[in-house]
Amino acid sequence: MSFVKRISVSTPAEGRAASAEKGKSTFLLAHLSDPHLSSVTGMRPAMLLSKRLPGYLSWCRRRRIHRPEVLDALLQDLSETAPDQIAVTGDLTHLSLPDEFRQAAHWLARLGPAEQVMVIPGNHDAYVPAAWEQSRDWWAPYLAGEEPGGEDAYPRLRVCGPVALIGLSSARPSAPFLAVGSLGKTQLMKLDQLLEQTRRRGLVRILLLHHPPVAGSIAWRKRLTDAPRFAEVLGRRGAELVLHGHAHVPFCGFLPAGGQKIPVFGVPSASDGRSKKPRRVSRYHLYRLRGENGAWKLRLTVRRYDPDTKRFATVRTEDILLPFFTC
Ligand SMILES: [Fe+2]
Ligand SMILES: [Fe+2]
Repeated sequence: MSFVKRISVSTPAEGRAASAEKGKSTFLLAHLSDPHLSSVTGMRPAMLLSKRLPGYLSWCRRRRIHRPEVLDALLQDLSETAPDQIAVTGDLTHLSLPDEFRQAAHWLARLGPAEQVMVIPGNHDAYVPAAWEQSRDWWAPYLAGEEPGGEDAYPRLRVCGPVALIGLSSARPSAPFLAVGSLGKTQLMKLDQLLEQTRRRGLVRILLLHHPPVAGSIAWRKRLTDAPRFAEVLGRRGAELVLHGHAHVPFCGFLPAGGQKIPVFGVPSASDGRSKKPRRVSRYHLYRLRGENGAWKLRLTVRRYDPDTKRFATVRTEDILLPFFTC
């Protein structure tokens, strides 16, 4: 893409080395997604009388793909790259079972304190009606934004140094064999206002959502149904970066805004340990923001799991050209 310039391969200690730069404001964001922590502990047969039945059959196949040792290696790697903030873009569970939410809460505690980890839900976290509402309290500190606004209030804003992390929710139950999501009119209207407010504050606006927002980037049955309206809001208000999950493959694209291009990136599942599917194997992204207001520079480092060494390693580093929306 035209906003990406390949520059070099960095070392595993890139995060810490960059953190040590002096005289510049720096911020390091890690983005990971779709760990799909699954557990059928405590599952009663009645719980399968729903969309969970085909989901359970899918899980029987996919549990060989989503590996706990990959997540352990990820935690170890994050302790070395030491990001300032970690964004997790949904699908922490597979069937939205109560024990999966508990298991994911324990995993989040290992990932970091809630003030350094921001989570948004995915479609698997709202797999059947009422599951999200009944269990989301397990993750409440990790879902929180700066301002109280009700448990369903999205978007949620966290300001971290020069960055406005804006969490969106596209998670909602859908019919069997569908994995669609939507943001809805109210959330999009609030997003329109929040993008303008944060632009006036001179913040670098990074949007987090589960479903890919770029048209044609995912199968129809898995799409964000109101992606065109989301693109309209961004086209009108701008943003500096959009991060998503859901597709379980990496994505690099853009959304247009005022003659500029807003970079859009997706990551595969954080727990995928398959050696024969290099595009699908676990990876996470590090975004290093450096500089000052009006002259920010963003560097992307891609860290991928190696099934042979059972460790993460850098596969590439790129400079990202940020769009510039004047204050
Ligand atoms: Fe997923
Ligand atoms: Fe998903």
